[in-house]
Amino acid sequence: MKSFEFKNPTKIIFGAGEIKKLADNIPAGSHVLLAYGGGSIKKNGIYDQVIAATHDFKITEFGGIEPNPHFETLMNAVKIIRDEQVDFILAVGGGSVIDGCKFLSAAAFYDGNEWDLVSKGLSRKQKKILPFGSVLTLPATGSEMNSGAVVTKASTQEKRTFGGPQYFPLFSICDPTVIQSLPKRQIANGIVDAYTHTLEQYLTYQHDAILQDRIAEGILETLIEIGPKVMDNPSDYKAASNFMWSATMALNGILRLGVPTDWATHMIAHELTALHGIDHARTLAIIAPNLYKKLFEDKKEKLVQYGKRVWGLTGESDIEIAEKAIEMTVSFFHSLGVDTKLSDYTSEYKETAQTVYDRFEERKWVGLGERQKVGPKMAKEIVEMSI
Ligand code: NZQ
Ligand code: ZN
Repeated sequence: MKSFEFKNPTKIIFGAGEIKKLADNIPAGSHVLLAYGGGSIKKNGIYDQVIAATHDFKITEFGGIEPNPHFETLMNAVKIIRDEQVDFILAVGGGSVIDGCKFLSAAAFYDGNEWDLVSKGLSRKQKKILPFGSVLTLPATGSEMNSGAVVTKASTQEKRTFGGPQYFPLFSICDPTVIQSLPKRQIANGIVDAYTHTLEQYLTYQHDAILQDRIAEGILETLIEIGPKVMDNPSDYKAASNFMWSATMALNGILRLGVPTDWATHMIAHELTALHGIDHARTLAIIAPNLYKKLFEDKKEKLVQYGKRVWGLTGESDIEIAEKAIEMTVSFFHSLGVDTKLSDYTSEYKETAQTVYDRFEERKWVGLGERQKVGPKMAKEIVEMSI
């Protein structure tokens, strides 16, 4: 195994009805910014539970954080934080709200152009940050237990990642019953996102970290098993709780320990959301299978292992099993109602591959992926294969 250091300080409070524990976990006496999205929490009872559990605190609300949170929207919250001297942020929502709050945490005390925190990676250097916690409402991103985030600058259609060890939530409340109000589209998104996070850290090349592979395969198999069940009946607590924990485990830092990781699918896919507004998970379903085809020789051994262990495939040859493993992945996404071609989502794709090329070049992204092979040219080719 590769050497590693690991610290994940987020306290997870997991289970039905656990939102009531908010009061015990927000630092006493805090003036809290309660941040949320477009209002789903007001319809499904989560907002009421949060308000009931926080009546001892001074609360200022900030709603309207959109999916793929906008820098421009978040800057309105930064102003409130500074003007009202907020000292704790509570994110109530999915990945977008939690990521948005990570930006607020970084920007609150930053004296400069706040977009630089994201685009120039300055978030990592920011010493004074505002602490935050979360109530997760959508299992998908793992943002509730990691220190990364993705923010979009709407004015330039740029979607960029940022983070740093300062940005772990202090706590996250993960109540699996929250998924009952999720539209099927979002449940499917959550399954595909968690599945792809696992593949990004698993489908690379052979290494010595036996346990890491087994954990990844366990998450993939669990998602395959419970995916159809949560789609069919989100009130099935056994399925919902395993879904929620799988999504958290897929991106809380455990899977990457001691192993090579890829992440090129995500970096290309973010451009499809930035340019076309396609849901994050769906952009992964568009790019991942084609990236595996493009890098077939490099990933072949792992594809065979994945095919045999996760999908139970047998076949004439390793090549056949590896190819079938990619097909099974696509079929799984389709079974959840997730389309896998760019043209299924937009007809405005003529310039997309070239724009991805230009952006990769501009950012000097010349060597993404586990073997640093994905640069502008290959990213462009993968997008062309994905149309
Ligand atoms: O805005 P509200 O009203 O909350 O509605 C949301 C939104 O419309 C709705 N929703 C959430 N919980 C609900 C609910 N509707 C009914 N009942 C509930 N319980 O679902 C819609 C999508 O929410 P969003 O937060 O955008 O989805 P998701 O959790 O998939 O987050 C996507 C964002 O996270 C980023 C993505 O790029 C994207 O910007 N990611 C963050 C990562 C991280 N921090 O580690 C990693 C991921 O790879 C990903 O990039
Ligand atoms: Zn993702």
